[in-house]
Amino acid sequence: MCGIVGYIGKKRAVDIILKGLSHLEYRGYDSAGIALVSKNDAHIYKASGKLNNLKEIISREKEENISTTAGIGHTRWATHGLPTEVNAHPHTCNCGSLIIVHNGIIENYKDLKPELEQKGCRFKSQTDTEVAAHLIAHEFDNKKDLLKAVQSAVKKLKGAYAFCVMHKSMPDKIIAARKNAPLIIGTGEGENFIASDIPAIIEYTKKAIYVSDNQVAEVKADSVKIYNETGDLISNKVENLPFEPVALSKMGYKHFMLKEIHEQPDVVRNVLVDKIQNEDKAVLLDDVKLSGEKLSKINRIQIIACGTSLHAGLVGKYVIEELTKIPVDVEASSEYIYRNTIADENTLVIGISQSGETADTITAIKQAKENKSHILIITNRKDSAMARLADSLLLINAGIEVSVAATKSYMAQLISIYALAIYLAETTGKTGNSKLKELKKELLTLPSKLEIVLNDTKNIKEIAKKYSSSKDFIFIARGINYPSALEGALKLKEISYINATGYPAGELKHGPIAMLDETMPVLAILNKGIVFDKVLSNCEEAKARQARLIGVTNFIDEKHINLFDDLVIIPEISDMVSPALNIVVLQLLAYHISEYLGKDVDQPRNLAKSVTVE
Ligand code: AGP
Repeated sequence: MCGIVGYIGKKRAVDIILKGLSHLEYRGYDSAGIALVSKNDAHIYKASGKLNNLKEIISREKEENISTTAGIGHTRWATHGLPTEVNAHPHTCNCGSLIIVHNGIIENYKDLKPELEQKGCRFKSQTDTEVAAHLIAHEFDNKKDLLKAVQSAVKKLKGAYAFCVMHKSMPDKIIAARKNAPLIIGTGEGENFIASDIPAIIEYTKKAIYVSDNQVAEVKADSVKIYNETGDLISNKVENLPFEPVALSKMGYKHFMLKEIHEQPDVVRNVLVDKIQNEDKAVLLDDVKLSGEKLSKINRIQIIACGTSLHAGLVGKYVIEELTKIPVDVEASSEYIYRNTIADENTLVIGISQSGETADTITAIKQAKENKSHILIITNRKDSAMARLADSLLLINAGIEVSVAATKSYMAQLISIYALAIYLAETTGKTGNSKLKELKKELLTLPSKLEIVLNDTKNIKEIAKKYSSSKDFIFIARGINYPSALEGALKLKEISYINATGYPAGELKHGPIAMLDETMPVLAILNKGIVFDKVLSNCEEAKARQARLIGVTNFIDEKHINLFDDLVIIPEISDMVSPALNIVVLQLLAYHISEYLGKDVDQPRNLAKSVTVE
């Protein structure tokens, strides 16, 4: 979501902050701003739209205004107020002395605003953040101490925040504070960095302090002091940052999304390497703390997640129920919360999240934790808020995913879920060994099958071109591939803005069939298996209404070939593992349609990589 970068040290802050913000661009934003602060002087620049607009404004500035060694910057994803220049951060108090950038939402901003207005505060923007700027400025007027002002102001705020605060009169410090929004402090020699995520600072330092909820930090060029909620000075560990800057390169691909789609065979190998060594060995999951005794008491499993991670969870329902016979419910995190969910100490609650920072899922996990359920987190980020809430942790090892549209992380989630399901089955003994052995064998051969699909994408590109002018799209499938239909439709919507919907194929006749005519493409996923004939009948129904039919299949006989306008044939694969192969076709289709339409593939409008507000 929004990005924060702060710098204080001996170099030109503007260069470091702008570069840092550019490394956060992938997370999605719609305006940007920066404040460069020196003794009794602050220069603030803002622009709506892309970071280049801000860079352009700054490039026209006089050198003496932008040569400071301290400053804070921000990319904003609009929540309160349009993505305009006036709503862009930084925000200030009336006189412009106190300057703030903020991620998150101040939920009680409307309650605080009238009192501040009575005290003379003039609001220029529609944002919640400006309330925090005025509130801290008032505390500063009383206390004349920026750290104390922030400590006192945050006590009055409800909601989520990661702040960087500066004051013109004391340019030697940045005050940072955090509650339910990510924030790290990168440490260097005579310089320190603040950021909402690692890519912003990885080029400058490999060491960082993770700020925890309700902590406030005073960051100077040569010191970092962290205070807990009660104001005591504490010492947080300095940790090594986990990834290399090379992850942020496109490696010759036109877009990160395409690069990440092509990385998937290696992603599968990476997930499997330490979990499933061969089909004869039991699955190893180092940080999953579910003993046979604990599992024997588990009588239900709840999976909570959002978006693509939710679709991975839906595949998980089919696999885990099949292998463990334990009932599994899957629910969007935003629906799980704010009601009395039935979960107790005998419930295993699985949270799935690429970023580990999705606010809806964090709230859902906290709710489940209160019910004393065992929390198992499946995530790509071991440093995330969700990982820190986990009783058991399953890291998916997908590497950093830059494109807003999740592809390789979905693949890594699926493979991790298969490994987890086998682990649960092996621990509970609910499934015969030969079936589990067969599944492991299938997973181990998956990378080479993915390579077959990825090495010849000509047909998919042609289909993409042919259907790229469609206004709507329907994806149908049944059983374990129903989530693939949902995910394929989500990918297409996200990056091409074509209205696409995934349906269980059997539901077509219960309503959606009314929309079918010769303008409507219907993409059907048909895998050899128990529902094959049923999906084929649903395809016949669609064809009878003149829909344009695209089949993605690993099995088709001569007599049915003519039913389809277009076909993508994938390698032979079992029904259970087929979602991991089918999805690559749908990812490529969405990618090439978006590319033909000239859309911003990696940073689609209105979307953010990690959604840190509820
Ligand atoms: C995926 O393409 C999306 N950008 C989005 O649906 C995403 O999966 C969702 O916001 C959940 O994110 P998470 O996995 O980081 O929790």
